[in-house]
Amino acid sequence: MSDVTATPASSESDPEAGAPVILSAKGLTKSYKVGGTRLEVLRGVDIEVHEGEILAILGTSGCGKSTLLHVLGWLDSPDKGHIQFEGKDRGSIPGKERARLRNDVMGFVFQFYHLLPEFDALENTMMPAMIKHGPGAWRTQRRASRDRAKALLALVGLTERMEHKPRQLSGGERQRVAIARALMNEPRFLFCDEPTGNLDGKTAEDVRNLLWGLNEKQNQTMVIVTHDARLASQAHRVVRLKDGHIDEAGGAALVQEIDLD
Ligand SMILES: Nc1ncnc2c1ncn2[C@@H]1O[C@H](COP(=O)(O)OP(=O)(O)OP(=O)(O)O)[C@@H](O)[C@H]1O
Ligand SMILES: [Mg+2]
Repeated sequence: MSDVTATPASSESDPEAGAPVILSAKGLTKSYKVGGTRLEVLRGVDIEVHEGEILAILGTSGCGKSTLLHVLGWLDSPDKGHIQFEGKDRGSIPGKERARLRNDVMGFVFQFYHLLPEFDALENTMMPAMIKHGPGAWRTQRRASRDRAKALLALVGLTERMEHKPRQLSGGERQRVAIARALMNEPRFLFCDEPTGNLDGKTAEDVRNLLWGLNEKQNQTMVIVTHDARLASQAHRVVRLKDGHIDEAGGAALVQEIDLD
């Protein structure tokens, strides 16, 4: 199964070695209007992510971590501010092209999985490839995509569950399907929202090893929102979202505080 991660390592995997900035955001604001009040969640987030870096984002429940991840991953738009991915400004790319680019180069593990209920685990995992190739090329790509999806599901320990629909899977199994799906198109950039949040210790360790292995072998860049102290402690850099801003200070100390959240 190791063939899905078998791309040669890059020499730029150490962010401190001066790897280029792959994602940058400046002045991001985001608020939600509920009833007569407006909830300001992001109040001017500045953040840079370097190629090959694993960045962990911490923060108390409800502080806006998922909101930030969705905005950084082009799934939602900010009220104000700019986001650049590989030098391309999100706002200057037309919607259709933006969706294509996102599907090709970004993988997203959602906090609440967002699997499609009418499709089984294998079909859910294959979905990004289907979207990428479109109906025309899909006939020629289907077999290879199916093999890759099977290999990814095996990698997350779900060989026996490929034909299960989401409702026939446990929470942790759904989470692992969501991880396999996020890896389907070999994204250069992976966003993970609490990827071990619903897993037991051993399975969480397997997922950590999988993600870190991908980072080492493929130089995949990752932004991971987590409450998992072990996962955060292994990240290259840790920041905290607090009061709508990114606090860059005190990485190791922040990890120790996780249990206090
Ligand atoms: N669509 C929405 N409409 C209104 N309010 C929202 C919406 N989405 C999120 N919120 C509110 O915005 C705040 C931030 O939500 P978000 O999901 O980003 O938090 P979080 O840090 O990911 O929390 P958790 O750690 O519990 O997952 C919360 O107070 C939430 O209630
Ligand atoms: Mg969240």
